Amino acid sequence: MQASTEQILSSYNDRAPLAEASTIPAPWYVDPRIAELERLNVFSKTWQLVARTDQVQKPGDFVTTRLAGEPIVVVRGSDDTLRAFYNVCRHHAAAVVTQPCGHAEILQCPYHGWKYGLDGSLKGMPEFEGVQNFDRAANGLVPIRVETWECFVFVNLDLQAAPLQQFLGGLVKRLAPLGVSKLHYFDRRTYDIHCNWKVYIDNYLDGGYHVPHLHKGLNSVLDYKQYAIENEDRYCLQSSPMVASDEDAATGATRKGDRAWYFWQYPNLMINCYEGYMDTNYVVPVDADHCTVIFDFYFSDVSEARRAYNTESVNVGNRVQDEDLGICEDVQRGLKSRAYGAGRLSVRREAGEQLFHQLLAADLKQHPVSSLAAAD
Ligand code: FES
Ligand SMILES: [Fe+2]
Repeated sequence: MQASTEQILSSYNDRAPLAEASTIPAPWYVDPRIAELERLNVFSKTWQLVARTDQVQKPGDFVTTRLAGEPIVVVRGSDDTLRAFYNVCRHHAAAVVTQPCGHAEILQCPYHGWKYGLDGSLKGMPEFEGVQNFDRAANGLVPIRVETWECFVFVNLDLQAAPLQQFLGGLVKRLAPLGVSKLHYFDRRTYDIHCNWKVYIDNYLDGGYHVPHLHKGLNSVLDYKQYAIENEDRYCLQSSPMVASDEDAATGATRKGDRAWYFWQYPNLMINCYEGYMDTNYVVPVDADHCTVIFDFYFSDVSEARRAYNTESVNVGNRVQDEDLGICEDVQRGLKSRAYGAGRLSVRREAGEQLFHQLLAADLKQHPVSSLAAAD
């Protein structure tokens, strides 16, 4: 008989001390009911990165995306206020804004031409004379929460959610000294991976455990023994002193500084910094077995003269990513094996993974039955 969602959730002990803890059990990574519960209890209730501030700097600038299955548009109003809405026309539900990003004076639905102001208010409906009891003021685009931090724009589908800064907690003070808002966006790489989104996060949060085995190039510039792991609030900071090395020329040339900084913020955002360099990794669940990871690369100097160097740096990141992808897809296959249930954690290395699993368990156990009443 198939285990119930509650049985699957209760099979993880989130109170165990690290030395006695296990990972979340395999069904959490493969069961579509858990994926749906995450959509409702995690991705519809946490602050999610949807854009860069430089994309919505001027009145009329917009970005569209999807979050937890919902079409979203973020737009800066004529009054300079940044707003976000469900990108769903109040007439017959078409997407009002269809480009990924751009600039507009007015938001006009391509289906029957309804027009919305940059503040979401309904401005015009062609051929709607004679319609009775229609309250135009109540038919604007439906708003969602939007806030910014550093050079990032976040939205939250939960109107009751605590403010972004409260959600980020101690991460705000830890990232501030690195001055990432002074960096400039350079390029994006997107990866479709045949694994659950949590497999990718786990791989990131193993405290460098896999680095000497899987990433020989990266390992050559890190002082692996000094690799530090700090948990606080909803973030884990992994950092490591760096060593100059020409063992791997491209890595040595593009990964510099005193220290490498790897931040993870629950549930699905990573921010990686070296000197004059940042990349963000944003993990989007697709279904229980698939996720998409978006890498955005930033540099202190994005002038034409630096293009070749920056491109080489992106390629180094790309190589590390390729090394991770294969292993993540292997893990997803292993999680489905009858030979596996859950795994133990290294006390020295895997505290970040435990924090992730504990935060997730707390969110999923909050309303497990009511959220899935219709689906079960
Ligand atoms: S669906 Fe937008 S105008 Fe009809
Ligand atoms: Fe890795």
